[in-house]
Amino acid sequence: MIYYFSGTGNSKWIAEQIASKTDDIAVDMIECSTVPSIDNQTIGIVFPIYAWGAPEPVQDFVKKLVGKPNFTFGVCTCGAEAGYAMKKLCGLFPLNSIYSVAMPNNYVIGSDLESNEVIVSKIAKAQEKLKKIADQVISAQSVVDVNKGKLAWIKSNLANLGFNKFARSTKPFYVTGKCTSCRQCAKDCPAKTISIIDGKPQWSKKCYQCTACINLCPAKAIEYGKATCARSRYHFNE
Ligand SMILES: Cc1cc2nc3c(=O)[nH]c(=O)nc-3n(C[C@H](O)[C@H](O)[C@H](O)COP(=O)(O)O)c2cc1C
Repeated sequence: MIYYFSGTGNSKWIAEQIASKTDDIAVDMIECSTVPSIDNQTIGIVFPIYAWGAPEPVQDFVKKLVGKPNFTFGVCTCGAEAGYAMKKLCGLFPLNSIYSVAMPNNYVIGSDLESNEVIVSKIAKAQEKLKKIADQVISAQSVVDVNKGKLAWIKSNLANLGFNKFARSTKPFYVTGKCTSCRQCAKDCPAKTISIIDGKPQWSKKCYQCTACINLCPAKAIEYGKATCARSRYHFNE
């Protein structure tokens, strides 16, 4: 079984691709209401990197897994660098193989997004890497293939701490007049933090900063402070 967490579809696609190539099933970990059994199975964990770390719901999910799997692997998707995220995740749930796959950057709150050419090229390269990952999972090879980048310790510890403490506020979210009251943002939010009041989204406190609400809004009506106003939007689209 392959469990994934995904805000804008990159990690979902990776999980589904590996599942189809390894004759397995990909399941959204947010939808798992009961703790799944992992005994005697191949278990995959697929997720996006947030500030050189694994997102909080991924850490919470793997901590709950108990049992004796046959083989475990983790794949993180990231714009560029994973830092020590995979190594740290192994401390919570031992992984036989760890990979990072470069995918289009979705962090519209933090920076401009990539051009279409870059997006298409990253997805094409990821497709090649997925074939290799699937073959290695099938033959249960232990592999470490992670681009941790420079200054990984500082990024995965100090910068990650700063992100989780200071950058996850929902206060800067707002909706513009382009909102059509379609409720898509509330449906897409993995933290279930968005309620629709008088036809418009309102954010409560809990937020993973997955950017699904901003990036998937069909009307591009959601902003986060001033930072996102002039920026494009991204979600995975094969
Ligand atoms: C809050 C946040 C933090 C991010 N931090 C990093 C990072 O530290 N390094 C990186 O290479 N990409 C980073 N990214 C980019 C995502 O990891 C990347 O776009 C990922 O493939 C998104 O996956 P998803 O579509 O499954 O949500 C970040 C994205 C978000 C939303």
